[in-house]
Amino acid sequence: MQIVRTSEELAQAVDALKREGRLALVPTMGALHAGHLALIEEARKRADRVAATIFVNPMQFGAGEDLDRYPRREEQDARMLEHAGCDLLWMPSVENIYPEGFATTVRVAGVSERWEGEARPGHFDGVATVVAKLLLSARPDVALFGEKDFQQLAVIRRMVGDLGIPVEIVGVPTVREADGLALSSRNAYLSGDERGRAAALPRSLNAAREAIRGGAPVAAALQQAKQGLVDAGFLKIDYLALVDAATLEPVEEPSEEMRLIAAAVIGTTRLIDNIAV
Ligand code: PAJ
Repeated sequence: MQIVRTSEELAQAVDALKREGRLALVPTMGALHAGHLALIEEARKRADRVAATIFVNPMQFGAGEDLDRYPRREEQDARMLEHAGCDLLWMPSVENIYPEGFATTVRVAGVSERWEGEARPGHFDGVATVVAKLLLSARPDVALFGEKDFQQLAVIRRMVGDLGIPVEIVGVPTVREADGLALSSRNAYLSGDERGRAAALPRSLNAAREAIRGGAPVAAALQQAKQGLVDAGFLKIDYLALVDAATLEPVEEPSEEMRLIAAAVIGTTRLIDNIAV
């Protein structure tokens, strides 16, 4: 696996890989786990060569968020990617991505405004801007993102469509621990006790799904799921909602493609999750 840092090195490496066939890109912020590796595995099925990026993007962190303590494990990550069959790893510096004078923001209206967008103002502007830059720099034929960050996936699909960036966007199902907790780099912040109680998040979503499928009123099912989180010791629930899978608009009556989405805080750690209904 080749490791590059500057955009000049990247351009050369990408030219070489694209001569060998279809190129896939898997953008990450590092501190890799089996969820990230599932993206690499899916990428290998869909392309001849696979590139990954590790970049902890300051533009998508708000003031008071965890930018400074976000886990950084470059060497271990590089070994995991090599072992998973990744061909190229791009690890740009902040100056590579945002050189002196950088002045552009990509903002996706509508789908980015509610939920995570509301709880974390500016977050999706940072995501859209960096993902646009990563896609335009690495020029992949296909790029893969996890359903774990369901709204992020919807924002990226909208941006790529709107801007006509020539890349296919693929969503990959969420990889979970045995007790249902979605793998996340931020799970490392949980104490042993919090980690045990965190599984109430997927459990409550699943219970709500079963209630809605069974014909229970949506509002009652959501309320019961919220109570499940409170009972497990979640201190703050940013949202727990039933939404249209494409637009992320809330739905009150069951419709075609729906998703249950949630964000809640346990201890000092904010966790998000979602499931199809
Ligand atoms: P990061 O949180 O590192 O996640 C990188 C990719 O891995 C994202 O597409 C995310 O949805 C996916 N992922 C994370 N946990 C997963 C899990 N348990 N199962 C499946 N996929 C999972 O998301 C970001 O980084 C950043 O916002 C980024 C897109 C790289 C832009 O900076």
